[in-house]
Amino acid sequence: MKLEGSPARTIERAADGWRVTIIDQTRLPHEIERVTLASVDQAAHAIRAMQVRGAPLIGVTAAYGLALALRSDPSDAGLAQAHIFLAEQRPTAVNLRWALDEVRTAVARLPERERAEAAYMRADRMADDDVETCRRIGAHGLEIIKAASAAKGGRPVNVLTHCNAGWLACVDWGTATSPIYQAYDAGIALHVWVDETRPRNQGASLTAFELSQHGVPYTLIVDNAGGHYMQQGEVDLCIVGTDRVTASGDVANKIGTYLKALAAHDNGVPFYVALPYTTIDWSLTSGADIPIEERSADEVLKVAGRLADGSVDSVAIAAEGTPARNPGFDVTPARLVTGFITERGVTPATREGLLSLYPERKERAA
Ligand code: MRU
Repeated sequence: MKLEGSPARTIERAADGWRVTIIDQTRLPHEIERVTLASVDQAAHAIRAMQVRGAPLIGVTAAYGLALALRSDPSDAGLAQAHIFLAEQRPTAVNLRWALDEVRTAVARLPERERAEAAYMRADRMADDDVETCRRIGAHGLEIIKAASAAKGGRPVNVLTHCNAGWLACVDWGTATSPIYQAYDAGIALHVWVDETRPRNQGASLTAFELSQHGVPYTLIVDNAGGHYMQQGEVDLCIVGTDRVTASGDVANKIGTYLKALAAHDNGVPFYVALPYTTIDWSLTSGADIPIEERSADEVLKVAGRLADGSVDSVAIAAEGTPARNPGFDVTPARLVTGFITERGVTPATREGLLSLYPERKERAA
């Protein structure tokens, strides 16, 4: 999508062909700064410090991280060590493990001297596939927005989203935002309610930013406002992303997603989850088994932003010594999800629904 008027991807190889350039998302929306990764340590840091974040982008970054690792140590031991190291950076998004497994499988049988190049090629393909997958998610989701628009006689469709499942969370397009961008580009009148998404405010700092860069009408709201607007009839549908979906259809996503799904259910508002196949964990049958990342209490106790003098800093919002907990994600049970929007189509959030789109998993699904 567009960044300062030009098409951009969140991650790509640098001009030298081996280093990897990312947009430092911890600086958005105040500064657009690109960072170049030259080692597995720097790739791991980018994931852990959330310079890159969002399930698909975490996966692609890890894939390039493994390529960087193999440049300096292409041995079996080096491969295994880098795989473990990168996998432990963030626990909830299953795309991380998927991407690392893909690269390991692509290189494991090759002679050591060929491994790094093969890993780069696999990572490049993964990035391109992610763009196409997200584009297709958008094409299927567009039909849902079109139907909502027709039902409203062309009046603006109000879509609520949580966190950032936008192009900044992927390589391009986004998952939840892809239908929104495609509807906007098709001339359908729409408006997006953007949850701020405490504690890290990915909605305020990333989703609002990327929608504004593309010209999509949006309004930023505090996390607790969504239920109110649903009661007022001001939300036509919700579309969120996800970090991991179980084979039974339970959905892990940014903390607060569950409350939005409950409010949507209570108000008869359709609640869709947009996801690529890389986010399905076929080995799990219950959302209770999804590992939930516990993040620093500091993120709850402080808020980051631009100060009056133009500098970017964080300020304390609670008394010193205040105890805080900070789960990064929650699980929305499948029964609260109207449907999954995937690259293969829209399906109910059930095991049968998923298997109807991915019949090749029938044998292997848990
Ligand atoms: O902690 P984050 O910013 O990585 O969390 C991101 C989300 O929860 C997204 O909604 C999810 O990864 C889907 S991204 C297409």
